[in-house]
Amino acid sequence: MTDNNTKYIYIETYGCQMNFSDSEIVSSIMTENDYSITQKIDNADIIFINTCSIRDNAEQRVRKRLIQLNALKKKNPDLKIGILGCMAERLKSKLLEEEQSVDVIVGPDAYRDLPKLMLAVEDGQRAINVILSAEETYGDISPVRLDKNKISAFISIMRGCQNYCAYCVVPYTRGKERSRNPETILAEAEQLFDEGYRELTLLGQNVNSYRWEKKIMGFPELLSRVAKINPLLRVRFATSHPKDISDKLIQTIVRHPNVCRSIHLPVQSGSNRMLDLMNRKYDREWYLERIAFIKKHIPDCGISTDIISGFCSETEADHQQTMSIMREVGYEYAFMFKYSERPDTLAAKKYKDDVPEVIKSKRLTEIIDLQQQLSLTANKKNIGSVVEVLVEGFSKKSQHQLSGRNSQNKVVVFPKENFNIGDYVNVKISNCTAATLIGKAV
Ligand code: SAH
Ligand code: SF4
Ligand code: F3S
Repeated sequence: MTDNNTKYIYIETYGCQMNFSDSEIVSSIMTENDYSITQKIDNADIIFINTCSIRDNAEQRVRKRLIQLNALKKKNPDLKIGILGCMAERLKSKLLEEEQSVDVIVGPDAYRDLPKLMLAVEDGQRAINVILSAEETYGDISPVRLDKNKISAFISIMRGCQNYCAYCVVPYTRGKERSRNPETILAEAEQLFDEGYRELTLLGQNVNSYRWEKKIMGFPELLSRVAKINPLLRVRFATSHPKDISDKLIQTIVRHPNVCRSIHLPVQSGSNRMLDLMNRKYDREWYLERIAFIKKHIPDCGISTDIISGFCSETEADHQQTMSIMREVGYEYAFMFKYSERPDTLAAKKYKDDVPEVIKSKRLTEIIDLQQQLSLTANKKNIGSVVEVLVEGFSKKSQHQLSGRNSQNKVVVFPKENFNIGDYVNVKISNCTAATLIGKAV
């Protein structure tokens, strides 16, 4: 396949930003060990699939992909296939039994072991390491950036989660929560800025509980230090858990104009009975109080959310509570899902997945339709105003149009004129859809 002894790795990533960030860490570990990364699957000696287990359909996608890769392997028996990430962790050696084409299985905390495991694989063995760690943060590893635009990047600031929301598989696939050394985070952020990056997103399952013990640094201090790197650097973060989004964090955002006016605050449900069963540790009243505090201090803040429809025992009345909280908050956008039972979670052990599939679908459709209206209403409010856009690339439809986002995280499209990727441009909004603002530079 290759003209020298270097082995080429192709990495395909599914799931959340954490997984994309992990693929960059894997790329770094492997390139330090004489492997190369290829963007073309046909050139690959090794294919890594970095997988997600959050819902059953995420796993089914990977299973289907493995059938296709099997066929590739029949044509090229030297091809090696690795499963990384959350499915590897959830299924462990069962996956080796079920998927005969797979050569190596590696969980999210064991990537440093990959070069050694690949030596065993090259020797014709099948290898596995799914040990979770209480300490691993890959803090010292400088990720190989796989993103294309070289403007926006993600920085992982912590790993794991121990909130144990009843429906969620993440605490089992990602292990205990742990924070990364702030010095390594700041060094990475500064380096990215020097390389020309203009937007960084600090990543964790629950960034509000970021804590670096020795220096007693919490998330607001970390955010502030990243924001101070340069006023031209935009800073975002995800995700915040409503139970611990603090006044201090919101006041920190207020003090730094380059921290984006956009908060992702997953509500999951508007019904207190559901929130309690979900083990979310807040109620509707608490959530709405947090929203009121945000809106009071950051009136132009864009608020987005995640919603699950059809969780165990959800009634029509519970569903209507979700619809009403959506209207009350007026979300800019939302990620909306049908509940999917995950083996071994609290909900799988304690409750029945008893909302019929047709009802789940019907409620999800209603939620999506409502969100569509809310997004359109929110976008229309921008017509006539001027927004600052960081240009990330060309619009999907035309090379004469640029695309970027405003501080509120909305996509804005406008004629290119003489502007370039990486520029900050003031755009006057003249039109919109539910997904996009449309305008012209002023
Ligand atoms: N740590 C983040 C979310 C991570 S998972 C947080 O707590 O906000 C992203 C979203 O997937 C969740 O917010 C939830 O809405 C959804 N999700 C998680 N488990 C799910 C399941 N079993 N079925 C359906 N949706 C689920
Ligand atoms: Fe899952 Fe809850 Fe942790 Fe988010 S906070 S990753 S939903 S357990
Ligand atoms: Fe999926 Fe794992 Fe992320 S389950 S959503 S890839 S943490």
